[in-house]
Amino acid sequence: MTDKPRVWVSRPTFPGIIARLEPHFQVTVEAEERKFSQSELAARLAGQDAVIVGLKDRIGAAEIGAAERLRIVANLGVGYDNIDLDAMSAAGIAVSNTADVLNESVADYTWALLLGAARRMGAAERWLRAGHWQATEFKAWLGSDVRGRTLGILGMGRIGQAIARRALGFGMPVIYHNRTPLPEADERGCNARHVDKQQLLRESDFLVLALPLTTQTRHAVGAAELAQMKPTAMLINIARGGIVDDAALATALRERRLAGAALDVFEGEPKVHPGLLTLDNVVLSPHIASATTETRRAMTSVAVDNVLAMFGHGPQAGRPPNILNPNVL
Ligand code: 8YV
Repeated sequence: MTDKPRVWVSRPTFPGIIARLEPHFQVTVEAEERKFSQSELAARLAGQDAVIVGLKDRIGAAEIGAAERLRIVANLGVGYDNIDLDAMSAAGIAVSNTADVLNESVADYTWALLLGAARRMGAAERWLRAGHWQATEFKAWLGSDVRGRTLGILGMGRIGQAIARRALGFGMPVIYHNRTPLPEADERGCNARHVDKQQLLRESDFLVLALPLTTQTRHAVGAAELAQMKPTAMLINIARGGIVDDAALATALRERRLAGAALDVFEGEPKVHPGLLTLDNVVLSPHIASATTETRRAMTSVAVDNVLAMFGHGPQAGRPPNILNPNVL
């Protein structure tokens, strides 16, 4: 028998970091990462005082129905569209995310995608691996420069700003659209100018999506928006699948109404729209923008800090730092 509160961790992470919970909690860590059904999640959440979960774990009223002791859901991600925040608040359960620690890694990866699309890296590598490289030709594999071209950012939170700051080094002017424009000092800090969404669509040479998925942002970029973009433009999505209408995007890319795209996230991932898989003018990656060892460790650490603080432990005891619904505290 133990009277320690219980924590369930829905996937293997970094044992040395999770071990910080052990003096205070009875910890159960799943040995493998997988998608749990609603009833499996409900069964696992029942009897827990805290849970550390990830994007595959969709947690709403049904999943917490039998979780009478649950006080905190710590999400391993900055995005939390997998969690029904209203249902958690109604049940008095705190929800935390991993804001900030992943900004720089995600911004770096966004540039890797952007440059990969501009310089056709994925297609060129596939061609080389397929044994097609017989001679080096002056006019083969011409991409486009990014210097002097306009970077557009839709969604200017902390990740959007980290992406914008890097544009200075590439000599690119930055325009952005956000529900609320940044304070002037922050705009100056990342050399970015606020424009309306139409202007952003019309003027961006590279349009990066860095906004959360909500009911309002679903298909924020669909056929109508793609039609407003320059045929020479490229779209980069590091935010969430579902913000882009992938079927409409595949059509626009196939018909060369849009020059290229680079996507780390997909509607219904890990499935990828089959229309995208056959195109050479799109770079595809399996949702890895935050996937560096350092950042995934930091994300785990933030989740652990929030659980510890929620139960009165650690330097932030009683003041968990990343709570999304502080009204429940
Ligand atoms: C995921 C992400 O958390 O933070 C987010 O919102 O999308 C990623 O960092 C990561 O892929 C782990 O599932």
